[in-house]
Amino acid sequence: MNVWRVHVDADGNMDEAAQAAIADAAACLRAGGVIAFPTETVYGLGANAWDDAAARKVFQAKGRPADNPLIVHIADMDMLGMVTCPDALPEPARRAMAALWPGPLTVIVPAGPRIAATVRAGLPTVGVRLPDHPVARALIRAAGCPVAAPSANRSGRPSPTDAAAVLADLAGRIDGVVDGGPCQVGVESTVVAFTAERGVIYRPGGVTREALMAASGVPVDWHGHLLRPDAGLAAAMMQSDIEGEPPGVPRAERHAASGAPDLGPPPSPGMKYRHYAPDADVHVFVGPNGRVLAAMRAWLATLRARHPEDTVAVIAERTEGLAQAGVLAWSPPPGTPYTEALAREIYRLLRAFEAQGARHILVQGVAPDGLGAAVMNRLAKAASGRVHLV
Ligand code: TXA
Ligand code: MG
Repeated sequence: MNVWRVHVDADGNMDEAAQAAIADAAACLRAGGVIAFPTETVYGLGANAWDDAAARKVFQAKGRPADNPLIVHIADMDMLGMVTCPDALPEPARRAMAALWPGPLTVIVPAGPRIAATVRAGLPTVGVRLPDHPVARALIRAAGCPVAAPSANRSGRPSPTDAAAVLADLAGRIDGVVDGGPCQVGVESTVVAFTAERGVIYRPGGVTREALMAASGVPVDWHGHLLRPDAGLAAAMMQSDIEGEPPGVPRAERHAASGAPDLGPPPSPGMKYRHYAPDADVHVFVGPNGRVLAAMRAWLATLRARHPEDTVAVIAERTEGLAQAGVLAWSPPPGTPYTEALAREIYRLLRAFEAQGARHILVQGVAPDGLGAAVMNRLAKAASGRVHLV
């Protein structure tokens, strides 16, 4: 298995050694190999999207259910025609791509004839994304084909945001990894589908709902599945009533969503799987700062009475009163907004705390607007719905 270390300077430029490494990795992709590579969101596990056998290797390496389709990545707008028929796309989809690519946005489009059936999981559609990362784009450009790439973790594990996390899950199961350093966004892309009149978000991610509406010129809704009580958003939205700031979904709709109507099968297969789960049990606390800290302290005291030996990790904007023996604490560096720092670090923290033997991980939730929607969605999944409103 190859590990190609590539250095990218602050302007996104690569030296000759990096370019040679990328050429090597691209040759491996063209020959049907599976290669992990960095994007601005998380590391992806790539295969030629036109090669069914290569795509099957991705599912195998990850242990991914065969009905969960892969996202296809392109290096430039010129490559869109390799994935779908660009002229047939609804206007709002085209406007969103033009404004928000390269970036953490995946648009569901009708699949072109060459996209392998395994990549689509048999669906007539495919998710396409133009990532904002010089290594990803150079690799795809050199490969000369669209690159199907889910996150480069074992299925059910937190997504990898550096090459070490990829190797921890997949060493020996893939042909190589291009190590381009840590990812900047830290949560996966937003997955959206458009008609001529509106958009529906299947997965909140690095591009906000607000940005999608501004770019596409049409209303963009959360898919109903994201508003179910266990999906994180609904809980955080209800709670944000207390703080007075109404989030993007009308109050009536939020409350209706919490009644969990029968929504039928999820249109985006990934919605139904429990993702991003570390071995420790995760608890998310949502509410005003002081109340969250108090609730965490109380939770800890109760645990200590029963299991004094358990290691606990705490992730919060501030961790006053929580530093004690057996507690690993993280808060963002001074001056860094909590939501952005949490997005960037959450998967790394889940893995690191688990490796340090944490049995329980307590996390302060965030307001579900902007990037916060993606963070709350991932936290609620990692917590399997253990979201405490305080
Ligand atoms: O940021 C990202 O999107 C990363 C990097 C590597 O680009 N990739 C990623 O891929 O997160 P993955 O496979 O872990 O997530 C793909 C999501 C799944 O929830 C899947 O169900 C959904 O996109 N998806 C893919 N194709 C779809 C389709 N045709 N229709 C509906 N949902 C689709
Ligand atoms: Mg994934």
